[in-house]
Amino acid sequence: MTTRKSTAGRSDAAARPLAVIVLAAGLGTRMKSDLPKVLHHVCGRPLLAYVLDAARTLTPERLVVVIGPDQGAVAAILPDGCQPAVQAERRGSGDALRAGLEPLGDFEGDVMVLNGDHPLVNGEVLAGLLVHHRDCTARATITTVVHPDPGHYGRVVRARDGDLAGIVEARDASPDELGIGEINLGFYVFDAAELRRFVPTLRADNAQSELYITDLVHRFIEAGDRAAAFLTADVAASMGVNSRVELAEVDAIMRARLVRQLMLDGVTIEDPATTYVDWGVTVGRDSLIRPQTMLTGATRVGERCTIGPGCFLRDVTVDDEATVVTSHLLECAVGKGCSVGPFAYVRPRTELAEGAKAGTFVEIKASRIGRGSKVPHLSYVGDATVGDDSNIGAGNITANYDGERKHPTVIGDNVKTGSDTVFVAPVTVGDDAWTAAGSVITRDIPDGALGVARSRQANVEDYAERRRLRKRRDG
Ligand code: UD1
Ligand code: CA
Repeated sequence: MTTRKSTAGRSDAAARPLAVIVLAAGLGTRMKSDLPKVLHHVCGRPLLAYVLDAARTLTPERLVVVIGPDQGAVAAILPDGCQPAVQAERRGSGDALRAGLEPLGDFEGDVMVLNGDHPLVNGEVLAGLLVHHRDCTARATITTVVHPDPGHYGRVVRARDGDLAGIVEARDASPDELGIGEINLGFYVFDAAELRRFVPTLRADNAQSELYITDLVHRFIEAGDRAAAFLTADVAASMGVNSRVELAEVDAIMRARLVRQLMLDGVTIEDPATTYVDWGVTVGRDSLIRPQTMLTGATRVGERCTIGPGCFLRDVTVDDEATVVTSHLLECAVGKGCSVGPFAYVRPRTELAEGAKAGTFVEIKASRIGRGSKVPHLSYVGDATVGDDSNIGAGNITANYDGERKHPTVIGDNVKTGSDTVFVAPVTVGDDAWTAAGSVITRDIPDGALGVARSRQANVEDYAERRRLRKRRDG
């Protein structure tokens, strides 16, 4: 990546190079978690990823993410072109910025700094911030919002004339300052050279004994540099995730956005409040999502499908016109026009070909059910291949596990199995074959044959009468 040396004056502001530094090394103490805070999920995705998406809409020349010394797991999710910088000791957001500046060397231009814990930030807010910074020909610009519940956020202090005077952290604020409703969102733009001048002057003389990035505003003002505030109306973007309570609040807002987008794209969602959709899930036009349904991971649903009520899908592909009712599906593929449930459990590496059925109280694992084949009731099918147009009777079991290893069951096309058949794998059933109800199939069945594997029925005549007599005799 190249760093253009800026020869441009302020009039040519738009041509100034831009670097973005995302601060993500914080311990997230209030999360009470072993997982780095920015890896906690919002709608199925690490919350840092949303901040990086927003930053990338600005196509910065450089994108640096500040991570902690023990946070290889954070580095591992960074997209191409995004450079990690390690903050060796967590001495506050000001020190994190110092770490983030290091890889930028003598970069000239604008440096945007973003708290990494605001997943509801978006490209529009950041573009607005940058434009405001450049329009004001400022050297430092902060982003603010008037918040109905300013809580623990840093308060924006303004002079009598309305000019920005500084930011005071809630923990350091006087009662009067705590009454201020305008808060600091934690998105800033600074002039790179000035930043290098002022960051080393930060001192930890505050309630948390930390180096505060927010103190930089005072440094710029003291030096007579122009400091501006970009006031946004986007209260959601101001929501930082510091606790699991805030994580749930942010997740709910993101989820509502994703669900709303699906509706705008032509999906009927009967109850948005109980529909959970992960980031990246797709649903085709004229599909119907019924209440209490979760579409998670890399799930893709086609057109004219019905999913729900009461479904959980993770990493599932559902082709057009399929129906899934009250079922749990993981890492599987449901073909066009298939019917699943109610109460089916479809496990990884299962493929239901076009028109297949996995019915009520049916569990299917690592199996292929061929075109138009049906497993309608009360069955377990594991490590099996079922051909086309076959019917697996009620209560069939593939006994695929011998206590040590799993074995395959192969069932051909157009097979009809009787109720309560057990297939002791490995075993193969030919095309057009049948099994008799209650059979325990231990040997292969050739094409067109009937496999019967049960003892013959014997009837004991007059059994009831003989019992009665015996009872009377024995008193
Ligand atoms: C910060 C702001 C506050 C603002 C709020 C918005 C400061 C001092 N205060 O408060 O004015 O209203 O965000 O959400 O910045 N970080 C590091 N290394 C550290 C410490 C923090 O990388 O040593 C990162 C965190 O991962 C986070 C950001 O810096 O992304 C802000 O730190 P955090 O502790 O969350 O600050 P807040 O108290 O939320
Ligand atoms: Ca925070």
